[in-house]
Amino acid sequence: MTLRNRLSADPRIKHNVVYQLLQPSLWQRLAVQAPSYLRSRLAGYPQTREALAASEWMRQWWYYSIELMEDCVTEGIYPAETPFLPRMLLANAELEGMECLDVGSMEGVIPTLMSRKGARRVVATDAIYHCYRKLLAVQHYHHVRFAFRQIGTLHHVARKLGADLGKGFDLINLSGLLYHVYSPFHVLAGVRPALREGGLMIVSTNIVEDPGCIMEFNAHGRFQEEANTFWYLSAPMLDYMLRYFCLEPIDWHYYRHPAETPRRTGGLSIVCRAVEDAGMARDDPWALASRDKSWEYITAMGPPALGRLPGSTIRYTAPQGPLPADWTDRLLERQVERAQGNAQSHTLRLTDDD
Ligand SMILES: C[S@@+](CC[C@H](N)C(=O)[O-])C[C@H]1O[C@@H](n2cnc3c(N)ncnc32)[C@H](O)[C@@H]1O
Repeated sequence: MTLRNRLSADPRIKHNVVYQLLQPSLWQRLAVQAPSYLRSRLAGYPQTREALAASEWMRQWWYYSIELMEDCVTEGIYPAETPFLPRMLLANAELEGMECLDVGSMEGVIPTLMSRKGARRVVATDAIYHCYRKLLAVQHYHHVRFAFRQIGTLHHVARKLGADLGKGFDLINLSGLLYHVYSPFHVLAGVRPALREGGLMIVSTNIVEDPGCIMEFNAHGRFQEEANTFWYLSAPMLDYMLRYFCLEPIDWHYYRHPAETPRRTGGLSIVCRAVEDAGMARDDPWALASRDKSWEYITAMGPPALGRLPGSTIRYTAPQGPLPADWTDRLLERQVERAQGNAQSHTLRLTDDD
C-alpha cells in the first residue's frame, strides 16, 4: 500500500502529522527552518531572467503575484483588480524606525512592504512553513531582511512571540485570518497584548452586511466553499469586538463582494489605535465588567506582562476618526470597487513605492 493510500485509508495518520506540524517547536526550527535558511544563503538564486523564468520558482503555486526580477512575476491567485485593503491602509502608516508584526504572511508581501517603508524590525509569521522558502526568495529579490516565526494555530500569539515579555510592536497587521478560526475573539485577545499603547493594528476580515451585532456561520459553505472558513462577522460586531479589546477604529476601507451569496458580504479592513480605554468601554459598564471579571478575557489575553510595554509614537497620516460607533452604517462611503494600480492590489512589483 502506498503512503498516499494509507493516508486516505486512515485520516488519523494525516491528522496526527498535521497536528504535529502545527506545534511551533525547536525541532521544526532545526529540521525545517534552519536548512531552508542555510540553503537560501549558500546555494543562492537564479541570477538572470532567463534562468529564473525556467526555474522551479516560477512553476510553483503562489498566493501573491510577486515580481522577482524585472518582468518575472509569479502567478498569484487574485485578479489584478481585486483590491488588497490592508495594503492600502498600511500605506498611510509612517513606519520609519518602527517595529512591525504581520500575522499569517504567506509569501511575505506585507512584511516586504513594511521593510521597504523603513521599519526597524519586522516579524513575519505563519502557522507552518508552507511558504517559508518562497518568503526567503522574495526577501532576496526585493533586497529586504525580516524575521520569520512559525506560530502554529492563532491562539496566544503574543505569548508565543515573547511579546508579553516587554517589547511589543508599533504596528500589527492581522488580515485574512478571523474568518479562518473557530473563535475570532480568542485570536484578537491573543494578539492584542503584543501591541504597544498608541500603536496601530490593521484588522481585515470578511463580513456579512447586517445592522446587528452578529456573526454568521459558513454552514454548508454558503459564503465560501473553502473548508477552512467559519465566521463572517457583521461590521457592528467587529467594531464592538475591537473596542472591547481597547482598539479604537480610526480608518477603514470596504470591498463589497459580488452578490453571489444568500446575504450581501464584503471584505472590511480597519485601522485601530491601541488605547487604554476605548470610548465604547467607558460608556458600557458591561464591557468594563466583562474585561475585569470574565475568565474568558483573563485567560485569552494570557498572563499580564509584568512590566508595561513601552508606548508607541507611530503616526497615521490619513485618519478618518476616532470613528463614532455609527461609522458601520456608512461602510460604502469608503468602498473600493477595484484596485487602481499595483499599490492597491495583491501584485508586488520591484519598483512599487507604496
Ligand atoms: C487568507 S491567507 C491571508 C494572508 C495574508 N495575511 C493576507 O491578508 O494576504 C490566511 C493566512 O493565515 C494562515 N492560516 C489560515 N488558517 C489558519 C489557522 N486556522 N490557524 C493559523 N493560521 C492560519 C495561512 O497560512 C495564511 O498565512
